[in-house]
Parts: sequence; C-alpha cells; structure tokens
Amino acid sequence: VTAADYQAEDATISQGTVATNHLGYTGSGFVDYTNVTGSYVEFTVDAATTGTATLAFRYANGTTLNRPMNISVNGTVVASNLSFAPTANWDTWATRTATVTLTAGSNTVRATATTSNGGPNLDKLTP
Ligand code: GCU
Ligand code: CA
Repeated sequence: VTAADYQAEDATISQGTVATNHLGYTGSGFVDYTNVTGSYVEFTVDAATTGTATLAFRYANGTTLNRPMNISVNGTVVASNLSFAPTANWDTWATRTATVTLTAGSNTVRATATTSNGGPNLDKLTP
C-alpha cells in the first residue's frame, strides 16, 4: 500500500464529531468519538495489490483508561478490542498499529468503540 494519510475528519463518522479543541492534530481536525459503545469511524482505503498492510492509527487518549476498539476490514473484525492506551493528555498523540490483509482496490476499514467510554480521539489512519 502506498503510504497516504486518511484523515479521520474526512472519513465516515457514526456517533462522533469533528473537533479542533486540542493541539497537535494533522489535517483540519480530529474525530471525537461519542462516548458510547458502537461509535465508529470508517475509512475507504485503496490498495494497489492484495497483501499485508500495517494500519497505523494516530490517536489521543487523555484519560487513565484504555479505549479499546474493534478493527474491521470489509466487514470482518480482524483485530478485537485493539488497545488504545492513555497518552497522558488530549494534546499528546500516539500511534497504534494493526496488521491486516487488504485486497486490491477499495477496502473499508472501520474502527468501532467497544466500551461505553467510546473510542479515543482519532486523527488519521496511515496504511
Ligand atoms: C474531553 C475531551 C474530548 C474527548 C472526551 C472524551 O471532553 O475534550 O476531546 O473526546 O473528553 O472523554 O472522550
Ligand atoms: Ca470522545
């Protein structure tokens, strides 16, 4: 996969809002997941060929608790409860990766909160 940034604020958002109220995001903002189970951001990721890709999610979690999310590719959960650990504060961003298989062409990559705390703040996905 050619390295390209997919900004969360440009993705499909369910139960979340685009926000700019913390420092250090890329693009024009980040997604603030609504603090409910099932809130998600879905990216459409283009892959030139079928094969393994390391998905890098840039996020912030200013709480003291993990904010796990299920990562699905084309409708199948490929990483259950992937941890998004605390990052000290909401202005501090970290990268969490998941290794997945993408198929040639267009892929849907969805990151869904699995607890009632919702997901972390999500800045972008780099495949
Ligand atoms: C705060 C913070 C938000 C964050 C939220 C949360 O309100 O400003 O950016 O999304 O906490 O706990 O999810
Ligand atoms: Ca939130």
